[in-house]
Amino acid sequence: MEEYAVKICDIHKTWNMKTTPVNALQGCSFKVEPGEFVTIIGRSGSGKSTLLHCIAGLIAPEEGTVEIGKTILTEMNEEQRSDFRLSHIGLVFQFYSLVQELTVEENLRLPFEVNGSSPDKEFLEELKSRLDIKKLENKYPRECSGGQQQRIAIARALSVKPDLILADEPTGNLDSENSRKVFSLFRECQRMFNQTVIMVTHDLALAKQADRMLVMEDGRIQNEQI
Ligand SMILES: Nc1ncnc2c1ncn2[C@@H]1O[C@H](COP(=O)(O)OP(=O)(O)OP(=O)(O)O)[C@@H](O)[C@H]1O
Ligand SMILES: [Mg+2]
Repeated sequence: MEEYAVKICDIHKTWNMKTTPVNALQGCSFKVEPGEFVTIIGRSGSGKSTLLHCIAGLIAPEEGTVEIGKTILTEMNEEQRSDFRLSHIGLVFQFYSLVQELTVEENLRLPFEVNGSSPDKEFLEELKSRLDIKKLENKYPRECSGGQQQRIAIARALSVKPDLILADEPTGNLDSENSRKVFSLFRECQRMFNQTVIMVTHDLALAKQADRMLVMEDGRIQNEQI
């Protein structure tokens, strides 16, 4: 049996609001090959962020399965998913971002403190200079601009060289020149470490540069079947 980096099968997720429930994912399915760079585009509210949260194991769909390599995330409890995430997945999410009480440098060291490994110092320095955040080391996140915070979060996610990178609009707060630079950096890292990348973006020109571009509509990936 062929193994996929990510295999999503018929997942459903409903957000229960006080008023009417929202069916954010309605039978969403797709597969990603190991080492593939996939972008997801789609209208606001089509379910892209909800999907990425399910793949990251931050939320659990009510129905369907999420598999990351050999691991079936949907058979795990929250604590198991969190352990798995820490050692295998790099996240660049707008709302799971930097720890406000820590400096930029401390934020960058956080993943290594949590999993007890030591950073590749040379690689970390290269990421800092490529993302133009070197001068921010001793600042606190609130002293940095939105775009700077986003680039710090990107450096932190890439620094651990995860097997799988999930990025939700990682260039959303960046100007077009920085967006292009960041996209190339993701591309280079992915090729260098044979990583799998799933990136949500509203930038069609960038999205088209991926190995494959998926379109999300009404809680499903279009033209994908399992
Ligand atoms: N935490 C939540 N609680 C309640 N409803 C939610 C929550 N998160 C998302 N939703 C709803 O689920 C639907 C899908 O939202 P989602 O954030 O996944 O869309 P999206 O495709 O990422 O949109 P955007 O491009 O604007 O980021 C929307 O109707 C949204 O209102
Ligand atoms: Mg979103």
